[in-house]
Amino acid sequence: GTPARMELKKLQAAPPSSLHSLSTSYIPDELPGRQAEIEKLLKLTNACLVRRYPKSVFVTGCPGTGKTATLKKICSELRENAGQRQYKGKTKFEWVAATTLRREDEVTTLIADALGFPGYSLEEIEEACEDAMHKPMLCFVLDEADQVFSTKAGKAVISKLFRWTLRPACPLLFVAIANAIDLAHRVVATVAIQQHKPIVFNFRPYDSDDVQQILHARLEVASSEIAVDETVVSFIAKKVCSSSGDIRKAIEMLRKTIITTETTSDVKSVTIASANKVALDAMGTRLVKILNCLPQHVRIAACACVAASLAPDEEVAVRDIYFAYQQLCRRAMLEPSSQASFFEYITALEDSGVVLSTKSRSVKNSTGLGKLSIQKCFALPLRVRATIADLKGAFGTTVLYKELVSEVQSQQEALAATTLETPPRKRRRKV
Ligand SMILES: Nc1ncnc2c1ncn2[C@@H]1O[C@H](COP(=O)(O)OP(=O)(O)O)[C@@H](O)[C@H]1O
Ligand SMILES: [Mg+2]
Repeated sequence: GTPARMELKKLQAAPPSSLHSLSTSYIPDELPGRQAEIEKLLKLTNACLVRRYPKSVFVTGCPGTGKTATLKKICSELRENAGQRQYKGKTKFEWVAATTLRREDEVTTLIADALGFPGYSLEEIEEACEDAMHKPMLCFVLDEADQVFSTKAGKAVISKLFRWTLRPACPLLFVAIANAIDLAHRVVATVAIQQHKPIVFNFRPYDSDDVQQILHARLEVASSEIAVDETVVSFIAKKVCSSSGDIRKAIEMLRKTIITTETTSDVKSVTIASANKVALDAMGTRLVKILNCLPQHVRIAACACVAASLAPDEEVAVRDIYFAYQQLCRRAMLEPSSQASFFEYITALEDSGVVLSTKSRSVKNSTGLGKLSIQKCFALPLRVRATIADLKGAFGTTVLYKELVSEVQSQQEALAATTLETPPRKRRRKV
């Protein structure tokens, strides 16, 4: 038909609401890539509500790793269970996004109200609950907990809640969701009850297979005249995963690409070229977002990984990374952490995908429980995914890190020089 006719047809066939599943506020029933987390979290929280014991759960991970969506799903299942079982009426649910709070201690007010102790302070509720086993169990989710934790008063509230859930009579299942992956460590540090660790779930960023699956599922629900080719979805997934793995970015990119195609051309299918154009507008560099979420010593450990490796994806022994880490700490005038803490940093880096373990044995599963000696852990090889460009992108603008990054660069260069002299596989350093 004539161009005018085609315009009209497009408008009729594709009303704006047809892309509702490509909005970032839409939460689908199924969450591909998070099945394992959902299963574990659901089992744990359900047991807690059915058998009535308190618990603190910290869910952390970079933005766009599906934390909110996963917990929303879990809460709705828990609610359903609560409605069916005999403990019906004895479980309450409260979901608070910390960004909507005016003050940190509003958390306390909300909990007091939900438990039927209006106006009580946390200490008063704690006391009242000692002999109030008939009180409903409260499932309290604090989303965007970074917001609360960024102030002193807020820190105190979260620590108190955590401490409270260590008492058997406490009727609270407390779930805190945050971007900062060290939130739990910081809470435990303030409480100084080292033997009681909260349960921590760190959501690692989605990989490109996950993202593809998620986008496909969402496209199936969407309806548009515009066809989206497999290659475009895969292109967007790879593009997003090479920087942050933030699923929000991927969804946004796909939606923008479709809309651009719908409105600017007569083409009936999305092209990689148009996806690329949208991507260029939206992207930063590789891993930068993840690095930005890391706390100080973990960042330095990340720098050390890069310093100890010559090329992306190169295998480096933990020992060499620890050596580089100590040097960088000295450079930053910081006391290097103990080997045990260092293994925790490596675990965090493994969790967030900055390094990958190469053998079946990951550092994460080898330390802590004393399964392997420190000696053996030090010998484990890791694949380093971050590069100097990532470090520059993430930390390049802060004074301390600028210096560190240039130190990393010179260490890398020194390493390259020694590697040239000795056969590649025999590269060793003494610790
Ligand atoms: N596994 C998944 N499958 C489908 N959609 C997802 C998945 N994970 C996240 N999303 C969607 O991505 C968006 C952002 O996820 P969200 O849970 O808010 O991330 P976070 O809380 O970690 O920042 C939401 O629209 C959510 O529905
Ligand atoms: Mg969220």
